[in-house]
Amino acid sequence: MLPAGPPLPSLVATALWMRRPFELLEASARRYGEPFTMGLVGFPKIVVVWSPEEVKHVFADDGTTFAAGRFNRSLAALIGERSVLMLDGPEHLRQRRLLLPPFHGERMQRYGDAMLAATDAAIDRWKVGETFSLHPHTQDITLRVIVRTVFGLAEGPRHEEMCRRMKRILELASWPPLLVPFMRKDLGPWSPWGKFRRAVAEGDAYLYEELRERRRTGERQDDVLSLLLEARDEEGRAMTDAELRDELTTLLVAGHETTATALTWAIRWTLATPGLALRVRAEIEDAKRKDGTGKLSAARAAELPLVDAIAREAMRLNPVIPIVGRVLERPARVAGYDLPANTPVVCSIYLAHRREEVYPDARRFVPERFLGKKLSPSEYFPFGGGIRRCIGMAFALYEMKIVLARILERSDLALAPRRETIRVQRRSVTLMPEDGLLIRLERAVA
Ligand code: HEM
Repeated sequence: MLPAGPPLPSLVATALWMRRPFELLEASARRYGEPFTMGLVGFPKIVVVWSPEEVKHVFADDGTTFAAGRFNRSLAALIGERSVLMLDGPEHLRQRRLLLPPFHGERMQRYGDAMLAATDAAIDRWKVGETFSLHPHTQDITLRVIVRTVFGLAEGPRHEEMCRRMKRILELASWPPLLVPFMRKDLGPWSPWGKFRRAVAEGDAYLYEELRERRRTGERQDDVLSLLLEARDEEGRAMTDAELRDELTTLLVAGHETTATALTWAIRWTLATPGLALRVRAEIEDAKRKDGTGKLSAARAAELPLVDAIAREAMRLNPVIPIVGRVLERPARVAGYDLPANTPVVCSIYLAHRREEVYPDARRFVPERFLGKKLSPSEYFPFGGGIRRCIGMAFALYEMKIVLARILERSDLALAPRRETIRVQRRSVTLMPEDGLLIRLERAVA
């Protein structure tokens, strides 16, 4: 027998999941406790858990019981069947091992200056006194950074074209109803799914062109694509173009929209907390004085404790992805229930991050919670966990801190009037502040 859950028709539950996901999770947790089930259109009943014990159980698995690739299937139309997100078993681990290194350590730090430059370019477009939506700007920054990281494409027409096509695809994909399987009907070039499919095909054509060009010139650059082109499996086989297409698209999509949204939340909470932006600026000025260079370097920005704490606390309160999912490969006991094979089980990041036992006054934004403290991976997991934990975690945090520090160093921002209470708005699988966060530039500091 499955656990209980809200007795809503699945269409109603799906509409709530699209428009008010946090409210649905909270109300169900209050009413049923852990675990509860959600019935969404096109999916078998989903079992939701969030206590550290159950989350630990899921994340400790080696993939033989809890399969993530099977849960992520609804993303296949965008990122492809051969994406690391879609794979399970040894094939998943092989791809994962290949993709991890460029997003860590010294390799990752080489992109610090590109992150600063992309942030400066965005800030330079802002005008004092103007009210604007922040998300398109954070998205522009993170997209430029990931295109540079993955393709090694510096500013120029090819870089611009790649960004343009990617934005178009994501714009079309961000319409939440497209997450529902039966909305995915290609009824010609004007239907939402038809438009999306054509944009993906156009993006692919450009990507394949880029691959052909790379193979033709044998150009070797300091980027992820060069690494993937050189990679060989145990039998000495290179990745096919179709495999490369899926992995590259995965990195482009997973590697920028999430970070942009997390950044938008971090700015939202900073501006809503009296005096916090000033404290960050003081931290930055102090670091600059100590360095004696008069400039904030990327490496230094990434080490600022308060900036780090703001980024983490924003992802605690508003995880951009509220759940991570698995499908049972075989029957298993979860949260006291014997569940049959093929049951989807999700760990709710949102509910875990709001447990009063772990986070007193959990609804308040208190970055100090993270100052000098490290939380367990089953209590804090905005990047998921176990063998599926986000491969871009270090990269995303590094980027968030650099961009956040630079924005707060260079600009004096305020939330737009009457925007103190902000609702959540879904963009495909990510949840961003309503209207992408309307803010006003009060003063340019530098
Ligand atoms: C704030 C930014 C980000 C957030 C909140 C985030 C969140 C997540 C989450 C929740 C998962 C699922 C983990 C699981 O199932 O346990 C994931 C997986 C993944 N993310 Fe991220 N991510 C971010 C940035 C990035 C970046 C920058 C990249 C690429 C450079 C990236 C690439 C991936 C990939 C490839 C996976 C699949 C891993 C696997 O299945 O083994 N993400 N991410």
